Amino acid sequence: MTKPIALPHTAPFAPEQIAALDKVIGGASAVQRAWLSGFLAGLDAAEGKAPPATAAGPKPKLLILYATESGNSEALATRARQDAAKLGFAAQVQDMADADVQTLKSAGTIIAIVSTWGDGEPPQRAAPFFRALMGDAAPRLEGVKFAVLALGDSSYAQFCESGRQVDARLEALGAVRTGPCLELDLDYEPAAKSWLSETLGHLAPKDAGSVIHVDFQKPVPAASKTAPFPAEITAHGKLTSERAQAETYHVEFSLAGSGLSYEPGDALAIMPTNDPALVAQVLRATGQEQDTALAENLTKNYDISTLTARQMKDYAGLTGDTALTALAEDAEKRTEFMAGRQIIDLLETFPHQLEASNLTALLRPLAPRYYSIASSQKLVGEEAHLTIARLAYHSAGRARLGVASGQVADRLRTGDHAPVLIRANPHFRLPAEAQTPVVMIGAGTGVAPYRGFLQELEATAAGNDTWLIFGHRNFLYDFLYQLEIQDWLKSGVLGRLDLATSRDQPEKRYVQHILWEQRRHLRARLDDGANIYLCGDAKHMAHDVDATLMRILADGKGQDAGQAALDALISAGRYKKDVY
Ligand SMILES: Cc1cc2nc3c(=O)[nH]c(=O)nc-3n(C[C@H](O)[C@H](O)[C@H](O)COP(=O)(O)OP(=O)(O)OC[C@H]3O[C@@H](n4cnc5c(N)ncnc54)[C@H](O)[C@@H]3O)c2cc1C
Ligand SMILES: Cc1cc2nc3c(=O)[nH]c(=O)nc-3n(C[C@H](O)[C@H](O)[C@H](O)COP(=O)(O)O)c2cc1C
Repeated sequence: MTKPIALPHTAPFAPEQIAALDKVIGGASAVQRAWLSGFLAGLDAAEGKAPPATAAGPKPKLLILYATESGNSEALATRARQDAAKLGFAAQVQDMADADVQTLKSAGTIIAIVSTWGDGEPPQRAAPFFRALMGDAAPRLEGVKFAVLALGDSSYAQFCESGRQVDARLEALGAVRTGPCLELDLDYEPAAKSWLSETLGHLAPKDAGSVIHVDFQKPVPAASKTAPFPAEITAHGKLTSERAQAETYHVEFSLAGSGLSYEPGDALAIMPTNDPALVAQVLRATGQEQDTALAENLTKNYDISTLTARQMKDYAGLTGDTALTALAEDAEKRTEFMAGRQIIDLLETFPHQLEASNLTALLRPLAPRYYSIASSQKLVGEEAHLTIARLAYHSAGRARLGVASGQVADRLRTGDHAPVLIRANPHFRLPAEAQTPVVMIGAGTGVAPYRGFLQELEATAAGNDTWLIFGHRNFLYDFLYQLEIQDWLKSGVLGRLDLATSRDQPEKRYVQHILWEQRRHLRARLDDGANIYLCGDAKHMAHDVDATLMRILADGKGQDAGQAALDALISAGRYKKDVY
């Protein structure tokens, strides 16, 4: 943390001026202080009151490397570059997806901002960079300084795993860590900003004689999230039959009057609200049934389902419960307790009265849920269509429902409103050229963006050669958008359809089986420059499809050749994934 500073009483100011300056400078961050000092020096130089800036040698180099999936790390990196420039760095921002590991040797200082996805994996487009960084051919980095900021979600077992890996690897390659890796949860923004400010302040050139560059232009407003738009649901219906094992819904939102627009491939973020029945259980367990303001606050603003290790420890500390403390401090027993359990299980197993403020301090903010948009504005205008699977399961003796998918399926109907935002996904787009073949692989709700793609291709009559490989359980019960897909096949918007049904026959058939069977056809499309798209389940399908693609691309030359060929496709932007 920044140490508060105080002006000495000998400073050449009147006592009341010293007090006023103390008020401003005392709480200023390193970046703010450096900016102020640069500003004053620059001002004097401009007015001829001081010698012009002495050339203090070349500016020190700073590489701000980020790995991102949904843009959080990128936004922080962009902001860090602005701050770094004010501190006198020659700062460069680079996406790991476009970076060459060999260039790290001459980076000078690296700030790496890295998120974790999948189950402890790097963001997909950054995967080839990760492999190169972890591999034997990675360069030695003696003389390079670094600091890592890791973004994650503490409800995942592999919390901030990718950031940790980068941190450990840079050190192993000989680079010098300037401070411990900071691991941040979904509410990362304030802590990330102060960490960046402190880290940059610490690394900044200490040449007091130099004048820091100050741009006198209008300040650039900090990147801010647009306020969510209360979108009306204009259509709501179940896509799956009563006999399907899981329910999937088609939901249409009106964006009229919002100013929001999207491209096929983008996602819509829904800000969900909690199930009132679960809110009531939490209030009852903590002795707060009468607090209606707290009920509303919990409904709209707090995650009352996820249970994290930090919450176990914090609740133990808050209540002084000795049995809970013993459980929370024992990593193995704690993990065993947490499996399949949520906050309500903790509160009911170890019941204690809680003040409203203590309860909310224990909880994480309620996070938006993303849904691939299943429409094209060229066909549906100011609407956004979603394909949402209702998440329902039993664990630790309770029936559980996904927060957002449960709300959409069970409590929202046509005419209701829900707050939404667009999350652009510029890396998951149709090719710009009509001659590029499009291979779309997906399972379950993974078909959603492809409905958007096919609507777009229908509207633009672009004529791309298209192939959809779609996996689902039963042909009769959960072939999502069957009629539309068959119409597109008839009209030629969709060139080819292959279906993998996993439960229609004794042996399970998945999309990767079709890929393998049709490998010649796939290779021919790749030779014609095809883009491959993959959407849907990250845990199983994405790994199996990757493995099959590698096998196909290896063409008998071994695993490394397959991996290298797949990495080359990813780096060329020809293998695009939107998996979750
Ligand atoms: C870019 C992107 C696009 C997406 N597109 C779509 C889409 O088009 N359609 C769609 O339906 N979803 C999509 N998703 C997933 C979606 O965002 C939500 O994650 C999903 O709907 C579940 O959210 P929820 O609030 O209903 O469940 P939550 O309340 O968030 O619950 C999910 C959690 O429940 C737990 N859980 C789940 N199953 C079990 C089980 N069997 N046992 C124990 N615990 C379990 C896990 O911890 C899991 O993280 C997308 C996600 C991303 C990131
Ligand atoms: C589908 C999905 C999987 C995720 N997996 C992990 C994980 O395994 N570990 C973790 O710490 N965070 C995980 N996260 C959380 C992200 O790392 C977090 O949201 C981060 O802020 C995203 O940053 P980005 O926008 O720069 O990619 C996951 C998020 C999603 C949506």
